[in-house]
Amino acid sequence: MPTSPEMKRKLFVLIVENNQVDSRMLKGMLEKTAYGSFDLDCCSCLADACRRLENNTYDVVLLDLNLQDSRGLDTLGRIHHQFPHLPIVINTGAYEDSMGLKAITSGAQDYLIKGKYLPYGLSKALYYAVERKKAEQDLKAAYNHLRETQAQLIQAEKINVIGGLASGVAHEVKNPLATILYGIEFLYTKFEDTDDEQIHVTLNAIQEAAVKANRIIKDLLDFASLSSLQKRAEDIHSVIDHALTLIHHQCEKFSIDIQKKYAPSVPEIYIDRNRIEQVILDLTLNAIQAMPRGGALKISTQVKFFASDDDGFARPPSCSINIGDPVVIVDIVDSGEGISAEYLSKIFDPFFTTKRAAGGVGLGLSIARTIMHNHQGLISITNMADGGVRARLIFKR
Ligand SMILES: Nc1ncnc2c1ncn2[C@@H]1O[C@H](COP(=O)(O)OP(=O)(O)O)[C@@H](O)[C@H]1O
Ligand SMILES: [Mg+2]
Repeated sequence: MPTSPEMKRKLFVLIVENNQVDSRMLKGMLEKTAYGSFDLDCCSCLADACRRLENNTYDVVLLDLNLQDSRGLDTLGRIHHQFPHLPIVINTGAYEDSMGLKAITSGAQDYLIKGKYLPYGLSKALYYAVERKKAEQDLKAAYNHLRETQAQLIQAEKINVIGGLASGVAHEVKNPLATILYGIEFLYTKFEDTDDEQIHVTLNAIQEAAVKANRIIKDLLDFASLSSLQKRAEDIHSVIDHALTLIHHQCEKFSIDIQKKYAPSVPEIYIDRNRIEQVILDLTLNAIQAMPRGGALKISTQVKFFASDDDGFARPPSCSINIGDPVVIVDIVDSGEGISAEYLSKIFDPFFTTKRAAGGVGLGLSIARTIMHNHQGLISITNMADGGVRARLIFKR
């Protein structure tokens, strides 16, 4: 019988077998077979198997279901649960078709009956289990990527629709609002000398309301024009420093201590300076608003290679940052109360806010995310273990 190309590689196999005689027989078969080659390790109980699996990287495990410390499908369930990426071939004396099917649907790659196979069949089962598991993992990864992409597309579409609607309304409201603001200016000069306190109070109230409405309209129009960027090579520290000068007063007012920790030499990154300043402003303002009784606002930068634990958030389909890519990371950490679990999945939604009563509009984070994604960058918001929130921006260098 010919040996297929995938059977050329040596496999490291853990044999978990209760019965000494069976164990010796398996070793004999695999050591002498002309079909494939194997490094073998043996043990006889589940506890020992788990210990070995934790300390070594096996290609595949050949598993007897009935051991001293675990029986039946429970044995499979426990190993599969603890080592989900490990290919498992069941090797059992209990011949039951329904059991075989259950084992396959519970995570095993194959189900062999003792005494019913020859060395070739056994070798093939082990090699094919490895290949099948690999295909299964690839399929799972592709499926997850597809779901992530789908979620991102839905989000992008939502933002598109809302952005389109909102900017339509904003355009309509912008001019009447400008008329109101000019009108107030005019009335101010007209009533400059009046002693009627009531008129001053009313004019102030109208002006405040109109200024607030104008700010919302400006946000909405910004939102609709986010895709046009003017990127240049910029020093991120100078962008952060400029944003900090704008929030300096707020920090003094709320007794917030700004603590900067910049990486010693950060290369310039290719960004639209104004947009990124807007992102940093949005994030620092959120941080300040989360600390009404004072606290610390820590801003730090790092230059590094992107690692798997740097993100923990969905990537947009257009994102080109991969593990190992050189990146610049900006962290903005506050010592507020953090974000409750029920809100965490909503904070990037346009118009989601928990500050409605205080005038929050809920566009800050969705704008920030759109800007970061238009830079092929990433943004994440996570609760810190010791309280507070970390907002993280990741730029490709
Ligand atoms: N640093 C933070 N600490 C606590 N909650 C936060 C923080 N940043 C954002 N959030 C939550 O996310 C929501 C959405 O933020 P954002 O989009 O900036 O809108 P807004 O600030 O107008 O509410 C906030 O209302 C708040 O509940
Ligand atoms: Mg905000």
